[in-house]
Amino acid sequence: MKHNVALSFADGNTLFFKAGHNDLLMDAALRHGVTLPIDCREGVCGTCKGLCESGQYEIEYADEEALTGQEAEQRYVLSCQTRIQSDSTFYYDFASSLCNQTDQPGSLKRTATITGLQDASADSTLLALTLAADQTTLNFLPGQYANLHIPGTELTRAYSFAIGPQVSGELQQLTFLIRKLPNGQMGKYLHQARVGDTLELEGPFGTFYLREPDKPMYFIAGGTGLSAFLAMLDVLKEQPESVSYPIRLYYGVNRLEDLCEQHRLDAYRTQLPDFDWTPVVSNPASNWQGSTGYIQEHLPLATLRDAPFDMYLCGPPPMIDAVTHWCADHHLDNGKLYSEKFTAPVS
Ligand code: FES
Repeated sequence: MKHNVALSFADGNTLFFKAGHNDLLMDAALRHGVTLPIDCREGVCGTCKGLCESGQYEIEYADEEALTGQEAEQRYVLSCQTRIQSDSTFYYDFASSLCNQTDQPGSLKRTATITGLQDASADSTLLALTLAADQTTLNFLPGQYANLHIPGTELTRAYSFAIGPQVSGELQQLTFLIRKLPNGQMGKYLHQARVGDTLELEGPFGTFYLREPDKPMYFIAGGTGLSAFLAMLDVLKEQPESVSYPIRLYYGVNRLEDLCEQHRLDAYRTQLPDFDWTPVVSNPASNWQGSTGYIQEHLPLATLRDAPFDMYLCGPPPMIDAVTHWCADHHLDNGKLYSEKFTAPVS
């Protein structure tokens, strides 16, 4: 038995295909050349989330971090875990152009050389990579991420691009802001890594990316979640004429010494028409004069209520959940929220 499946996207495009009964949505789409964004393929990361607008389906497995109980009740699905049971339609809140990235087998994999290793804060590093000359350009949207393979292990770790897409001559530069977790495998590797070493990466992944800047934008960063916003701001500063609305970044860290790239954030103030940023330090030293506590305590409620806005959130799940609940509690239905949760690996 075949079912008619339609996938609609935020850019208004709709793609159609037929799927067998009980087919996995992700696989059925792929057989028809529709490459939905995926990463873990195990119901854990949430990258493949969509909304079932009509039809019957069954979910094999969904981690609570990837799909909450409330989302499941609202008929959100994980495409890698959804088995089609009838004719159905699904909606994805990203552009259909993101579904074309794996048109060539292996096209997401690249080899890169380390060209920079620089401390960005007490426990984070800016890792600069250059793609080898024989590698195809890695096209990505600001906010997306790549999986970096840790040399000498079978492990990969996900990191957001920390600069906008840029190519200098024939060589493409990539930068990642990496938190060195105590006993973390990537941290251990970075301690002994040297400029000139090579590593493998795969990407881009994710549906967290900068949308059309057609309303005020609020960027909410927790820790190295700042990375995604650095890439977004890089792109926006290249086209300042397209940015006619305010951009406000709230950047939460635990300690003052955890703040990264302050000079870059200060520079955006002059490079963009109306940009400002506010550091929020949860455990500051006694002489800290700036904002403390939780980010949501510093958001401008009256301004947010005033007009439609886009809010982008990137960082640890508790921060994203707290700000999301704060918006819901204050009935900020005029805002559209986009989020990317940084889940810490076990090592
Ligand atoms: Fe990770 Fe589906 S790809 S949840």
